[in-house]
Amino acid sequence: MEPTIDRILISENALRDRVAALAEEIAATYRDADGGIAIVTVLAGSIVFLADLIRRLPMRMRVGLAMVSSYAGPTRVSEGAVLRSWSLPDVAGLDVLIVDDIVDTGGTLRVVQRAVAGLDPRSVRTAVLLRKVAKAPADVSVDFVGFDIEDVFVVGYGLDYDGVYRNLPYVAVLADGGPGPRPVS
Ligand code: XMP
Repeated sequence: MEPTIDRILISENALRDRVAALAEEIAATYRDADGGIAIVTVLAGSIVFLADLIRRLPMRMRVGLAMVSSYAGPTRVSEGAVLRSWSLPDVAGLDVLIVDDIVDTGGTLRVVQRAVAGLDPRSVRTAVLLRKVAKAPADVSVDFVGFDIEDVFVVGYGLDYDGVYRNLPYVAVLADGGPGPRPVS
């Protein structure tokens, strides 16, 4: 049976206000990026955050996509992250901003940051909507964070459980009644 929502962790209003503030921080950081920036977004959990964020960034930009798998099927356990594919503009000499939904163990961001660093960009920074602050490793640097959260499994605002709940306009905690962690086969 699919787990249900236990409670709303971050409301629609709080998301809107924080994303607006993050966009201001990011815009100020890239004030002098004359040639524009390249955004590399990690699919698919960041789609809603990305859409709201970039519409508040008043600068020239190109957007690239990266696919990383860390989950297979209905599990809440993050497995080893693998960069599956990407479609990127030429980022050599450009300021790159990696945009992701959540830093949990940091495996996903680590592989994307390393891969982008190998493309000779001028700079690489990272923005995430959520960070599980107790777990995020020190070697994965994050420059812009929307919210630090406790170590609970969250869905909504782009984040899914087994492919569903991405369309919720808020971030919610799943009820404990659903299937627990399962090994990836
Ligand atoms: P790592 O452990 O690599 O995890 O930092 C990052 C990716 O794992 C997914 N993830 C979650 N997805 N609720 C979700 O819906 C969560 O609480 C959660 N924690 C990790 C997500 O795809 C993220 O990019």
